[in-house]
Amino acid sequence: MLDLTGKNALVTGIANNRSIAWGIAQQLHKAGANIGVTYLPDEKGKMEKKVKDLVEPLSPSLFLPCNVQDDEQVKSTFGTIKDKWGSIDILVHCLAFAKKDDLTGGFSETSREGFSLALEISAYSLALLAGAAKPLMSEGGSIVTLTYLGGVRAIPNYNVMGVAKAALESSVRYLAAELGEQKIRVNAISAGPIRTLASSAVGGILDMIHHVEEVAPLKRTVTQLEVGNAAAFLCSDLASGITGQVLYVDAGYEITGM
Ligand SMILES: NC(=O)c1ccc[n+]([C@@H]2O[C@H](COP(=O)([O-])OP(=O)(O)OC[C@H]3O[C@@H](n4cnc5c(N)ncnc54)[C@H](O)[C@@H]3O)[C@@H](O)[C@H]2O)c1
Repeated sequence: MLDLTGKNALVTGIANNRSIAWGIAQQLHKAGANIGVTYLPDEKGKMEKKVKDLVEPLSPSLFLPCNVQDDEQVKSTFGTIKDKWGSIDILVHCLAFAKKDDLTGGFSETSREGFSLALEISAYSLALLAGAAKPLMSEGGSIVTLTYLGGVRAIPNYNVMGVAKAALESSVRYLAAELGEQKIRVNAISAGPIRTLASSAVGGILDMIHHVEEVAPLKRTVTQLEVGNAAAFLCSDLASGITGQVLYVDAGYEITGM
């Protein structure tokens, strides 16, 4: 039985009720996990209020700012987690960013700055957060991140984010190899296209979704809660033998050819 009772689960990347991280947080909570949430702070505190109101029904025992571009903030956030929780069992990395200009047109036009920014926020951050969580996972743990097919295939307009997802998937393997000894498992979920704040920046996202609805074996795309179920499974003891993997939760689209 899928049971996460007594597990401390830190979920990053909730921006609104369409966020995949929100679907994951709900399913982890349903399975009994104690939820902690981090959000990306902005100057006016708008995101803090919005996310706080949204996650209230899950009664998170931690609610902290964490901009992965800010080393000091990451350090202080994990310091607070250590003081309040003592240990982390589950870390959900569910964040990414690229400039809108770099998510349309030709990949050869990607700027140096846009490339670095996308790779830093979307891929390096997994190693950064895993490194911060590692000392708090002395009893073992599970880390799950979110990727997309554009990391292994050339998908129109996905461009620099595809390169970032390739780096992210490779990071999953290197982290799994390093942290396995400490009984920390690291896996990725490759989700089918879903309408969210982040995906709306990708040129032609609605066409991508319609295409999947036509050709995927299940003739539809997936929901945030379905991704959440897969994440809960990967974070549970039911997946105790699985690490370093990319699990496709995409209504079967990945297997299709002509
Ligand atoms: N929506 C899709 O179709 C889809 C498909 C496959 C994978 N994914 C991946 O799922 C993950 C979540 O995206 P989503 O689609 O739910 O969109 P979303 O916009 O709801 O989530 C993206 C999150 O990244 C956070 N973020 C951006 N920059 C950050 C920073 N510097 N520090 C901390 N957080 C930061 C945002 O605040 C936001 O919460 C991403 O990795 C995305 O690439 C999405």
